[in-house]
Amino acid sequence: MEDPFQGLAEAYEAWYETPLGAYVIAEEERALRALLPPGESLLEVGAGTGYWLRRLPYREKVGVEPSPAMRRLGEVRAKEAVWVEGRGEDLPFPGGRFDVVLLFTTLEFVGDVGRTLREARRVLRPGGALVVGILEALSPWAALYHHLGEKGVRPWTHARFLTREDLAALLGPPEAEGEAVHFAPEARPPYGEADRAGKRAGNRPALYLGRWR
Ligand SMILES: C[S@@+](CC[C@H](N)C(=O)[O-])C[C@H]1O[C@@H](n2cnc3c(N)ncnc32)[C@H](O)[C@@H]1O
Repeated sequence: MEDPFQGLAEAYEAWYETPLGAYVIAEEERALRALLPPGESLLEVGAGTGYWLRRLPYREKVGVEPSPAMRRLGEVRAKEAVWVEGRGEDLPFPGGRFDVVLLFTTLEFVGDVGRTLREARRVLRPGGALVVGILEALSPWAALYHHLGEKGVRPWTHARFLTREDLAALLGPPEAEGEAVHFAPEARPPYGEADRAGKRAGNRPALYLGRWR
């Protein structure tokens, strides 16, 4: 199967070093940490280069990642995690194995969203938390990425975008929600002010997060 992230792994986190990228990822991290519950074990499905696995405070961290390029870099950068080759649609774990399962901008790229979510719930212990982050389909950022995909720019050629309503239809109402980054990608600094203006204008945020039990 073609890997839309092939050749992109090294560049994947470089954007976070730019002023715009640093603001965006800090806001996303704040929103994500606010939703993550305490627990011993975390599984990230589509763990990429291990950006979150390096940062999140769980004793046992496991990353499932199908892209060889992303996984190899993740294995170097997030040595504290166990890395497993696999796909969200068919997780190689017994039921009830994890306290927390995280899917952060992964559903955009999986072959089968419904099956991936069913698998994520299967491997959660009873009462465990499923935390899902999506690039909101109705945000200005998803509009840009959709446009780039149509122009042939990877990985967006392979992406689909969901709304928070799509997620609620698949998973039911979340027990908690979060969001981040209300400004459009072409915003200029100061980004804090741009973010408040985007919120006042009613923009959907780039990142929507939900937590389900
Ligand atoms: C946008 S990246 C997000 C990576 C990481 N979650 C992060 O936030 O830094 C999407 C990741 O999903 C992975 N992916 C694609 N198809 C997948 C599938 N069927 N199951 C699990 N992960 C998949 C990609 O290889 C890629 O690493």
